Amino acid sequence: MPTDTAPSRMKLVVTGGAGYVGSVCTARLIEAGHEVTVVDDLSTGHADAVPEGARFVEGDAAEVAGTLLGQGFDGVLHFAAKSLVGESMHDPGLYWHGNVVTSLRLLDAMRTHGTPRLVFSSTAATYGEPETSPITETAPTRPTNTYGATKLAIDHAITSYARAHGLAAVSLRYFNVAGAYGRYGERHTTETHLIPLVLQVATGDRAQVQIFGDDYPTDDGTAVRDYIHVTDLADAHLLALEHARSGEHDIYNLGNGTGFSVRQVIEACREATGHPIPAVVAPRRAGDPAVLVASSERARTALGWKPERTDLVGIVADAWQFTQDRKDANPA
Ligand code: UFG
Repeated sequence: MPTDTAPSRMKLVVTGGAGYVGSVCTARLIEAGHEVTVVDDLSTGHADAVPEGARFVEGDAAEVAGTLLGQGFDGVLHFAAKSLVGESMHDPGLYWHGNVVTSLRLLDAMRTHGTPRLVFSSTAATYGEPETSPITETAPTRPTNTYGATKLAIDHAITSYARAHGLAAVSLRYFNVAGAYGRYGERHTTETHLIPLVLQVATGDRAQVQIFGDDYPTDDGTAVRDYIHVTDLADAHLLALEHARSGEHDIYNLGNGTGFSVRQVIEACREATGHPIPAVVAPRRAGDPAVLVASSERARTALGWKPERTDLVGIVADAWQFTQDRKDANPA
């Protein structure tokens, strides 16, 4: 039965624990003394990214995790998802099935087995083009892409499952996650994110970086985002697990509250890497809002969360260290 008192050592299923954010969270959960079973189908994750100390079961988040839950778990952290905005627009079925159907099946399995707690990876993309900045959790949710629409649909489902069935649930709406934690970092086969792409220029794997639009209504004309260190994000998951309350679904934005433009990010990468990083201006990328900055006041107040790694050069430096370590370990 759902409970309001979180045990200090929890038995947890982490779906997507072989991915970027999932692996960092798993590492932090293990350090905090929790017992973690990672379920990942390795469609975008990597088996060698599953942290030591975690049990690893390869397979589909709903199918495998759903069966495992019968063994009795204190909670699920559900990271496994399709998360490429561009791909979600040309292959929506992949996102409605991969995100919404899978999550519904997982929710049903949690209900069947009486798993009391859920922490879900939601996204800033649920808000769409913001009317005001910074974005609070009460802002209208009008996603401009299928990815955001699927995450919002799951958020709605979680709300009703929590109310009807007593689930203790928290959705964390990530803004732009960056940085690395030791050997756990961002390594997508299809890379679309700004910082890893810029770092590929610094490693010599890419000649230059493209700036998607310099005619936005921002100080330097390039788009502004809120970059949050992946370890700060992970810490919020641990706090969310402790604070989840039966019958409630709480939603928190996670960002630093400071926006950096694409040009500022490239400059920070130049500083962190010592590489000149050539950049060229290209057309805007479809669907990109001009400015996305989080208000994380709710997370700070309700969870006692405080991001510690807010310096952009420091965030990039951690991603750069991770990139270099991988390059040394796997020379081309
Ligand atoms: N950008 C470039 N050049 C590149 C890549 C990106 O100029 O080569 C720009 C983008 O246009 C955007 C900014 O850099 O203005 C950041 O782009 P990312 O792709 O790194 O991140 P997004 O802000 O597009 O996406 C992030 C998350 C998504 C989430 C979204 C919320 O990665 O999962 O925020 O809107 F949906």
